[in-house]
Amino acid sequence: MESRTAATRFMAEAAALARIEEVRSMATQDFKRNAKAGVRAMWALGDYHAFATALVWTVGPELVSACGIGSGQGVLDVAAGTGNVAIRAAEAGADVVASDLTPENFEAGRREAAARGVQLDWVEADAEALPFSDGAFDVVTSSFGAIFAPEHKAVAGELLRVCRPGGTIGMANFTPEGLAGTFFELLGRYAPPPPPGPPPLLWGTESHVRELLGDGLDSLELERREYVERPPDPEAYCELFKRTFGPMIATREGLRDDPERLAALDSELLEFARRSNRGAPEGPAEYPYEFLLVVARKRAA
Ligand SMILES: C[S@@+](CC[C@H](N)C(=O)[O-])C[C@H]1O[C@@H](n2cnc3c(N)ncnc32)[C@H](O)[C@@H]1O
Repeated sequence: MESRTAATRFMAEAAALARIEEVRSMATQDFKRNAKAGVRAMWALGDYHAFATALVWTVGPELVSACGIGSGQGVLDVAAGTGNVAIRAAEAGADVVASDLTPENFEAGRREAAARGVQLDWVEADAEALPFSDGAFDVVTSSFGAIFAPEHKAVAGELLRVCRPGGTIGMANFTPEGLAGTFFELLGRYAPPPPPGPPPLLWGTESHVRELLGDGLDSLELERREYVERPPDPEAYCELFKRTFGPMIATREGLRDDPERLAALDSELLEFARRSNRGAPEGPAEYPYEFLLVVARKRAA
């Protein structure tokens, strides 16, 4: 009798624990879904294509060339934005899929591709769960994109999974020591806390990339490089951020009811833009951003 009571109690407790686990997992899923929706809404703000073409458009061809992308190759660009890498890969003759969490930016990418006379596919996709089969691409790229997904291990696993054995994974990742580190630290002090997980700029450190990609590779080349953003002057640089760059627009919007903090952010941004300018006094302004160029060859079967 006593052992039956104990068994019944055990079953009831096990069922309750399973239910708690189920609710916890549903809450986590909900939290993640909402966080993704928030990230997508943020990157859809402003005019990312205007931002990218004014400031980071030189990096796309650099990554295409570093990965040796050429005619007939199947290329997936992850967190492609409006096609900085993807459009250049298509211009090099590759069959390209541009994927991103934020499809709102695809229209600008399609227009840019059409103006350049190339065609590519645009697919909404989370870098942590890519909707493509194993080994589907010869080359998988991401410039300043996949780094923003909070689950780095999941992203690395997906980049490796969709790349064919013997294929190439190429990334351009901001380093934490470079200007992007200073900029995102500034912005982060005014923005809501980021989703839990390692910071995006950790992808710009050699040890982190080695740890994430290392096991499944034949070779891994890592090189620190620099590209230069060239707005007319520091004031125009700040205005460009405020008008076109989603994370800056979202952060300023979040401070709408706190004019003092909004003014403090604007003043810190201007101070950053003046202090970091390496250009000649007559202009244009020059902002050298350090990044880690990653070229990984996936182990041949
Ligand atoms: C700084 S932009 C870089 C875009 C482009 N690669 C370039 O070089 O211009 C960052 C991009 O990452 C995308 N992104 C952020 N989180 C993502 C995720 N979890 N999965 C896929 N894309 C994501 C954003 O939508 C945005 O387009």
